[in-house]
Amino acid sequence: MIRVSHLSRTYTLNGQTVPALWDVSFHIARGEYAAIVGPSGSGKSTLMHLLGCLDSPTSGSYHLGGADVSRLPPGKLADIRGAQIGFVFQGFQLIPRMTALENVMLPLLLCKTPPAERIARARELLCRVGLQDRLDHKPAQLSGGQQQRVAIARALSRDPPLLLADEPTGALDPQSTADVLRLLRELHRENRTVLIITHDMQVARQTKRQLCIENGRLIRDSCTQNDKFSSQM
Ligand SMILES: Nc1ncnc2c1ncn2[C@@H]1O[C@H](COP(=O)(O)OP(=O)(O)OP(=O)(O)O)[C@@H](O)[C@H]1O
Ligand SMILES: [Mg+2]
Repeated sequence: MIRVSHLSRTYTLNGQTVPALWDVSFHIARGEYAAIVGPSGSGKSTLMHLLGCLDSPTSGSYHLGGADVSRLPPGKLADIRGAQIGFVFQGFQLIPRMTALENVMLPLLLCKTPPAERIARARELLCRVGLQDRLDHKPAQLSGGQQQRVAIARALSRDPPLLLADEPTGALDPQSTADVLRLLRELHRENRTVLIITHDMQVARQTKRQLCIENGRLIRDSCTQNDKFSSQM
């Protein structure tokens, strides 16, 4: 699903070059459940932006689903993003004046899905995340955990094979955190590739594999022991 090879991203600020990500190589198979973990400033968001086709590398290559996406123009990257990647963010990023149903329908509206199909799909997804009785609530009328479940339903609206979640539980209490992580694990079991970006090792250990980033470098790539992973199910 994901193959990055000698990937680097440097930023230039006031004539100074900041190497935010340096010579990172790894492979993530279709259907994997993994975490990218590291301290603040280690380069996680930089990597997430590259993997999410929101940015292009300074050097190295990125293949997504077999296609080289390292040097595509922004318009092409946007098409790939829309069709292949669902995003979940720490701050949910829902549209405040829209209901849960409208938020989930929005990506379908943007890709011109017919109205009846849009409504049916959004309803189905909100049921899927346990919010069938909250369809007409606006974000401010929902709890944090419920808002994140709406955001997950929205991320699934175009049925992407890859889900990228940047600190998805960062703003949640322990119960909502557990709910969201259970949901992400279920989505992985349904054969989606799920990647969580987090600074929290506790959260990272809920996945099957941890890619640890420090100072822009991949310093460790380890698997959760089977017994540990299964005991959390
Ligand atoms: N646009 C930019 N211009 C210059 N430097 C940047 C830019 N974005 C990030 N950096 C630098 O790149 C490094 C990696 O930043 P990044 O945002 O990827 O870290 P992070 O691991 O996501 O941190 P956090 O956990 O705090 O979100 C940092 O040293 C940061 O200062
Ligand atoms: Mg970050």
